[in-house]
Parts: sequence; structure tokens; C-alpha cells
Amino acid sequence: MGKEINLLDRYPKSKRPIDERGRLVSDEQRAIARKFDVEYFDGDRLTGYGGYRYHPRFFTETVRRFRDHYGLAEDAAILDVGCAKGFMLYDFSLLMPKARLRGIDISPYAKAHAKEGMAELIDIGSAEELPYEDDSFDLVISINTVHNLDRDACARALREIQRVSRAHAFITVDAWRNEEERRRLEKWNLTARTFMHVDDWKAFFAEAGYKGDYWWFIAE
Ligand SMILES: C[S@@+](CC[C@H](N)C(=O)[O-])C[C@H]1O[C@@H](n2cnc3c(N)ncnc32)[C@H](O)[C@@H]1O
Repeated sequence: MGKEINLLDRYPKSKRPIDERGRLVSDEQRAIARKFDVEYFDGDRLTGYGGYRYHPRFFTETVRRFRDHYGLAEDAAILDVGCAKGFMLYDFSLLMPKARLRGIDISPYAKAHAKEGMAELIDIGSAEELPYEDDSFDLVISINTVHNLDRDACARALREIQRVSRAHAFITVDAWRNEEERRRLEKWNLTARTFMHVDDWKAFFAEAGYKGDYWWFIAE
């Protein structure tokens, strides 16, 4: 079985825009954000990132952490599910120029505005139906993506990640460990449809047959 392990410990801590978004995110803002279009990536903070731009501080150290932790060969095949504009793929390409990199995202906007050189590595599609052969990748990573699906689709996405991975997988999902974190997450959440207590996630992973590693995004 997979391990609960924080491989994002070198990822910079972000300030959650809870206060900027006010007391509660409106259904209308959620509906806009869930299109994963310009308003989500490059609109204002009420409907998403408020400008999703590349900076090496995000993933440079994190991709090194993945490579070292999993002992990846220099030509490893790596898939990023929910790769957005390909920022993590780009940092992998700098660290491991011989790696066989692939990304998939639901958002045509993100691909159209991908980091230079990355668009050709990105497929448009959903995590719940990955267009890859069984056992195609040495490592499949999915950061803050599968929780955007409803429960059944999320379980399908987990099975798909498991299916296309021949060795390792690592995902992160929105979760809470106590009522305070649950309250904060519900207030902060814009796009997630499936989020639960960490213990319930673990049971959910087992039920879906997901055997990879995992970590949490917690609204602290
Ligand atoms: C919170 S962003 C994370 C982006 C990137 N992984 C990162 O950590 O910077 C979530 C991403 O999931 C994508 N997404 C949402 N639903 C998806 C789905 N069903 N299949 C694939 N990608 C999806 C969105 O377009 C967006 O790029």
C-alpha cells in the first residue's frame, strides 16, 4: 500500500485567499472557477489563482525531491495529471532532460497558455479516463486535481492513476484532520467536489484500489 508522505515539503506555503474571498464563496464564483478557463487561472482571486504564473520557487526543489525519493532513472517516464500550464513538467525537463514527460489537464486554456515548450507534452482530457496504456509511467503525480471530481469520478481517476503507473504514484487532495480545518476548507474551497477527513480518504483510496502515495492540502 501507499504511504502518507509529504513530498511537497519544499513547496512554498501559500497564503489562502480566504479573507479576500469574504465569508463564503458564492455558487456563481464556484461555477466560474470550475470551468478552469481564463477566470480560474488568470482572473481575480475570487474565482481562482488571480494570475497563475511560472516561478522556479514553486517546483524546482519539489521535482528534485520526487526524483530522489523515488530513485528515478534519468529517462524515467513521468505523468502529471492536472498539469495546468506545465510548470512542474518544465522543472522536470530542466532537472531530467532525458525524462519522458507527459501532462494531462481538462483545461484547453491552460494548454494554450503553457510554459514555453510544454504545450506539446500536454494532452487535454480528464483524469477519470487517461488516454495511456496500462503501466506506461514510472511515476504518476497529481497535485490538487482529483478532488475536483465528484465521488464516483474521483474513484475512477484514482483507478486510472493506478492503472497507468508501473511503479510509483503520488497525489495530494484537500482534506481535514479536525472540525476547525474542515470549517476553514469549506470556506476556502472553490473547485473541489470531494473532500473529507484524512482517515476517510485512506479508506476511499483502499476501496478504489489506489496503492500510491499521498499527502494533504489542509486549510491551516
Ligand atoms: C489546483 S489546480 C493544480 C494545478 C497544478 N497541479 C499545480 O499544482 O500547480 C487543478 C488543476 O486540475 C485541472 N483539472 C480539473 N479537473 C480535472 C480533470 N477532471 N481532469 C484533469 N485535470 C483537471 C484544472 O484545470 C487545474 O489545472
